[in-house]
Amino acid sequence: MAIISWLSSSIFLSLFTLFCLSISNASWGTEAARESCRPISSLINKDLFHTMFLHKDDAACPAKDFYAYNSFIQASKSFPGFGTTGSLTTRKREIAAFLAQISHETSGGWATAPDGPYAWGLCYKEEINPQSDYCDSTNKEWPCYPGKSYKGRGPIQLSWNFNYGPAGKALGFDGLKNPEIVANNSMIALKTALWFWMTEQKPKPSCHDVMVGRYIPTEADVAANRTAGFGVVTNIINGGLECGIPNDARVNDRIGYFKRYAQLLNVDTGSDLDCANQKSF
Ligand SMILES: *[C@@H]1O[C@H](CO)[C@@H](O)[C@H](O)[C@H]1NC(C)=O
Ligand SMILES: *[C@@H]1O[C@H](CO)[C@@H](O)[C@H](O)[C@H]1NC(C)=O
Repeated sequence: MAIISWLSSSIFLSLFTLFCLSISNASWGTEAARESCRPISSLINKDLFHTMFLHKDDAACPAKDFYAYNSFIQASKSFPGFGTTGSLTTRKREIAAFLAQISHETSGGWATAPDGPYAWGLCYKEEINPQSDYCDSTNKEWPCYPGKSYKGRGPIQLSWNFNYGPAGKALGFDGLKNPEIVANNSMIALKTALWFWMTEQKPKPSCHDVMVGRYIPTEADVAANRTAGFGVVTNIINGGLECGIPNDARVNDRIGYFKRYAQLLNVDTGSDLDCANQKSF
């Protein structure tokens, strides 16, 4: 039984590899087929994931055991363009950028932390001292449900009713009535981060488009110095509070994580990492 399934799975794997090799440069393969030939698990295996997130399962981290490698790989399959688009450099750089941004959002590190400040991503799963319920009551499309808090939750620290509503609609949960699920179900949590990463929210481009070279700056973007690079991604995520400020500690923390992960993935970071000279969207 074991031998038969081993045989058939290795035959399947060889056929799969042959198929993927033959379409990778051919004109007849569809982009979707090419993407399914490039699983992100081939770029980031479990060991590398654990080297990046050295402390995520420490007793000191409230998210201990929440963000498992397999959940990350599984969740990413719902977003087939993520980490599979473009050249090897582009794919690695996008993954490094995504992991860096979610690390800053959930960081448990500090300047003199063991293994350095950038070994502490994915330590938190929800905001500890929210200053409000993050309810924009002027938003009628995604009305707040009485008594619910739309504070930061999950790897990207999804916040505000106008993000919980559409994220839930896209992913199949009631973000307005049940926002807590983002901190209780790791698959949903990871998917909210990937959803945010992949989804354009006008006038902002998606983080994904910026990292894979599909962002075309408008005139307003050019005037605001929003040149494609990791800095624009930071601008998309929290530019209103962090960009246009010289030497902002939060922006530098995001960059620090990006540099460490890019190095571990053996890819350069590209240029325009900062958003200090950018206006926010
Ligand atoms: C979600 O988790 C929180 C603690 O993180 C807990 O208080 C709450 O009851 C949980 N809710 C559900 C629906 O499981
Ligand atoms: C764009 O960058 C230049 C050079 O760093 C700076 O002088 C200018 O003020 C920036 N523009 C905006 C809108 O921030």
